[in-house]
Amino acid sequence: MFRVTRRYEFAASHRLHSGALSEEENRQLYGKCNNPHGHGHNYVVEVSVRGPLDRATGQAVDIAILDELVRREVVRPFDHRNLNLEVPAFASVVPTSENLGFEICRRLKRNWEQAFPGEWPKLEKIRIGETARNIFEVGTDEIE
Ligand code: NI
Repeated sequence: MFRVTRRYEFAASHRLHSGALSEEENRQLYGKCNNPHGHGHNYVVEVSVRGPLDRATGQAVDIAILDELVRREVVRPFDHRNLNLEVPAFASVVPTSENLGFEICRRLKRNWEQAFPGEWPKLEKIRIGETARNIFEVGTDEIE
């Protein structure tokens, strides 16, 4: 069994602000990330899949198919967007990298069978680099 990880990048802005908290609580919790006018990140998204080697192709995953899926569902809808204002999933959900991981996972899972109709490869993990020092990882089995 192989694990294959492919890296994608997009730039987006966001503001961390929870409707469940007061203005003061938001400021305390999120600090400068609560700035009303937002701020940006160059996000790095790593998508890990696993599957057996296909003897005919010598590959475990058709990277071109994965690229098509991730670009269509994640990179294009998020790149150079304000996540709070332009991505409906974040209209009332705080666009932290954790929630971004959930949303990316949902988008890929929703379209996975159409892209990869066979038993393999399976989506395994999403890893989001928000800054050089903040990296978030979620196993896709943990998300519906
Ligand atoms: Ni931020």
